[in-house]
Amino acid sequence: VRKRIVTIDGPSGGGKSTVSRALAAKLHFTYLDTGAMYRAVAYHCREQGIAAEEGPQLADLLASLRIELLPPLPGGDDVRVLVEGGEVGQALRTPEMGMLASQFSALPMVRATLTRLQQQIGAGGRIVAEGRDTGTVVFPDAAWKFFLDASPEVRAQRRAAQLRGKGETVDEQQLLAQIIKRDKADRERSAAPLQAAADAVILDSTQIPADEVVEQMYAHILATS
Ligand code: C5P
Repeated sequence: VRKRIVTIDGPSGGGKSTVSRALAAKLHFTYLDTGAMYRAVAYHCREQGIAAEEGPQLADLLASLRIELLPPLPGGDDVRVLVEGGEVGQALRTPEMGMLASQFSALPMVRATLTRLQQQIGAGGRIVAEGRDTGTVVFPDAAWKFFLDASPEVRAQRRAAQLRGKGETVDEQQLLAQIIKRDKADRERSAAPLQAAADAVILDSTQIPADEVVEQMYAHILATS
């Protein structure tokens, strides 16, 4: 039996977060931002001076790690992330933290810990999960799977607009280079690489605004429920 779970995977900056949040609201499902969990591990390890390689220190940290996700505050966008009970905030959302998260996410030890936690959160269904491997590894029995792609240039533009909206100055060329590098690493790693599940619906948002992507997904879900 397929679980009442929607998975949305794809490369960074393809509009996954915006689309996942909106779709979750429309379905009255919970939005599960798995990328935030990888960012939280990277952040916490950096704070503790632990490098991105497997070893006893990382194993200890993962064994006792407490990560909690809370819904955004009214008027806010991002899921709030608590690590060991403390809220991390915007430090999680920088491009640098995305790169560091990508390094930690290649480690099987890290993936095993977070995959288990994500499966616990999704056990009751009614979840829209967003990430790189949610349709392939975390929730292979999800009822609805999407893979959302877009050209690297458009993704860099959107990410730049998003960061500028938060009052940051951005170098768009540098952002594009980072996006290309992070996607390559995510696609080519051996542990749970970024790829579309065989049964995923593939959408390209290069030419389509986010609200239209949401409508297409919603229509597909209604048609196959
Ligand atoms: O989606 P977001 O940009 O927040 O993800 C940060 C990084 O976390 C990704 O580049 C990827 O390396 C990793 N990630 C992952 N599997 C997921 C979600 C994120 O490996 N399900």
